[in-house]
Amino acid sequence: MTPETSPRGANPADMAVDFASVMRAAVALSLNGPAHNANPRVGCVVLDAHGAVIAQGWHRGAGTPHAEVDALSQLSPAQVRGSTFVVTLEPCNHTGRTGPCADALIAAGVSRVVFGLSDPGDVEGGGGDKLRAAGIDVIAGVGADEVMAVVRDWYESAALGRAVVTVKWASSLDGRAAANDGTSQWISGDLARERVHLQRSSHDAIAVGTSTVIADNPSLTARMPDGSLYEHQPIPVIIGEREVQGERLEAHPRDAIYLRTRDLRGALVEFRERGIHSLYVEGGPTLASAFVEAGLADRFYIFLSPLLLGGEKLALTDIGVSTLSERVDLAVESTETLGADILITARPAHQTTLSTNTAPHRKEA
Ligand SMILES: NC(=O)c1ccc[n+]([C@@H]2O[C@H](COP(=O)([O-])OP(=O)(O)OC[C@H]3O[C@@H](n4cnc5c(N)ncnc54)[C@H](OP(=O)(O)O)[C@@H]3O)[C@@H](O)[C@H]2O)c1
Repeated sequence: MTPETSPRGANPADMAVDFASVMRAAVALSLNGPAHNANPRVGCVVLDAHGAVIAQGWHRGAGTPHAEVDALSQLSPAQVRGSTFVVTLEPCNHTGRTGPCADALIAAGVSRVVFGLSDPGDVEGGGGDKLRAAGIDVIAGVGADEVMAVVRDWYESAALGRAVVTVKWASSLDGRAAANDGTSQWISGDLARERVHLQRSSHDAIAVGTSTVIADNPSLTARMPDGSLYEHQPIPVIIGEREVQGERLEAHPRDAIYLRTRDLRGALVEFRERGIHSLYVEGGPTLASAFVEAGLADRFYIFLSPLLLGGEKLALTDIGVSTLSERVDLAVESTETLGADILITARPAHQTTLSTNTAPHRKEA
């Protein structure tokens, strides 16, 4: 890093600070915030002109102060002048339930801002440029991968302008999700089924089609091996135009959302507006295929069990591929053995991992 004197008076470049390790502390602070919230988890560490930590903040969820403002509130005006704010996410440039953090930092007389990840939002982004324009020394992209690991669903949903979708299925090695008579419980073994419940609990919402509700009366809860519920329960969502009532869904700790529509993209945009960033699509094959065909499947969890079923009950039905050149290519991110089963995690090959440091500002048509 080239030492430079800040136009804001103090000379924070004098400090020999390892910003990457301070950023790790800010990431750790961010984990104090709620994992499933309209807003991302953000942490902030404030250093004085000598590199000593003088405040730590984090965001406690939508409607509460952002991490930078939380840290600012702990400092006197004299302490803030000449300080360096190390914050996991680019300070926002947007008036929502709270004012723009970039303005608050400028008004307070901060000398330097170091942030990890650029804000991908069209409206919220641009805080870094605003800070620079005000003469504040800005360093972007420090520890961006570690920050991304914490806020990935929020980030990708902001970049896409809709909730991100994980499509999961469990099938035989020959790609069948059930035997010809419809029996499917259980194709996968215990470890795979435990993993499914963990995956459910890491998503904001879980979706099935109306036919699955009629056929299976599912509970759609995320349960631990002993049957007790995970602390976070995804919101159950039933998609389809028919009026159905899931009796076991009545007992779900979250109110179910019945979306009487087939407009999947519209539903995902609405989810994001409601603060739902991630959707776990559990089937059945018709709904899962519709997400794939619409290009709305962002991540796949495919559980393969070492058995053959043959027959008609395929894990996916029509995905709009009529000839090989129209195939949906996947990039495998990992394979894992779970007992006798194999879990493949994949993404559509065309979907390059959303860039961490450059704000893509890419909204789909
Ligand atoms: N092995 C597994 O992992 C697994 C998981 C879940 C379910 N299943 C099994 O799958 C079977 C049900 O699967 P399924 O394929 O018949 O039904 P499904 O996928 O559960 O539901 C299909 C319904 O989804 C609705 N839908 C919403 N948006 C749509 C769109 N864009 N395009 C098409 N349909 C849309 C439609 O309902 P409307 O007609 O109401 O509009 C459609 O009839 C059950 O037997 C269940 O046991 C297996």
